[in-house]
Amino acid sequence: MKRAAVRYDGVAITLHWLIAAALTAQSLFGWFMDDIAARGTPARAGVVNLHKSLGLVLGALIVARLLWRLAHRPPPWPATVPARQQALARLGHGALYAAMLLQPLSGYVASNFSKYGVRFFGHPLPPWAPESRAAYAYFNGLHQTLGWVLALMVAGHVALALKHALVDRDGLFGRIWPPRAG
Ligand code: HEM
Ligand code: HEM
Repeated sequence: MKRAAVRYDGVAITLHWLIAAALTAQSLFGWFMDDIAARGTPARAGVVNLHKSLGLVLGALIVARLLWRLAHRPPPWPATVPARQQALARLGHGALYAAMLLQPLSGYVASNFSKYGVRFFGHPLPPWAPESRAAYAYFNGLHQTLGWVLALMVAGHVALALKHALVDRDGLFGRIWPPRAG
């Protein structure tokens, strides 16, 4: 089938793959945090704060990506993708962006309802909210649920991307894959 003529720009491609790798690593870090440093052990605070610090850097990258996306049109869909599928893909990508933003935001907001706040790479950021167990539990619960929601959405996204690459072979995958040199 004919290859799509246009592709995402270099910044969009770089941010897509950088964030995909960092988000996967950060989620694994979250899920294995209790194995890395059990609750109540001296190493725990340092490990949790490393997760928080890396999460804030990742959150900033995600905001930068969204701003870039809003300022730069993605390549137009090839005619091989039916209009209904285009609408669904737009919806799916929008949901991915929303979950990507809410994930670090919920963790950050939760931390501000705890007396520990955030130590950003050792630099204390004092909490701006009053200590509240209920508010912490709510936002922390959101953070935990979103971790799974995001993982499921990414699994669906990857399955669809592979379908385009291996079954449809319609060139969509090449739009976001770094161009070959030469
Ligand atoms: C954490 C992991 C990932 C996230 C959060 C993510 C998110 C996204 C988002 C939001 C878009 C839409 C880009 C836009 O129009 O602004 C996109 C595009 C795309 N992603 Fe991912 N992605 C991830 C991993 C992957 C992986 C592992 C693959 C391949 C196996 C992949 C394949 C693609 C493809 C082919 C497109 C372009 C679709 C098109 O041409 O419109 N993504 N991704
Ligand atoms: C995109 C960035 C982030 C991702 C992907 C992420 C992912 C995760 C995941 C998957 C967990 C494990 C949840 C579970 O136990 O089921 C977790 C735990 C946690 N995250 Fe994040 N996180 C991010 C950013 C942040 C930020 C910015 C903060 C705070 C400033 C934060 C604070 C926490 C805390 C405190 C826990 C432990 C909660 C507990 O065990 O009670 N995270 N994170």
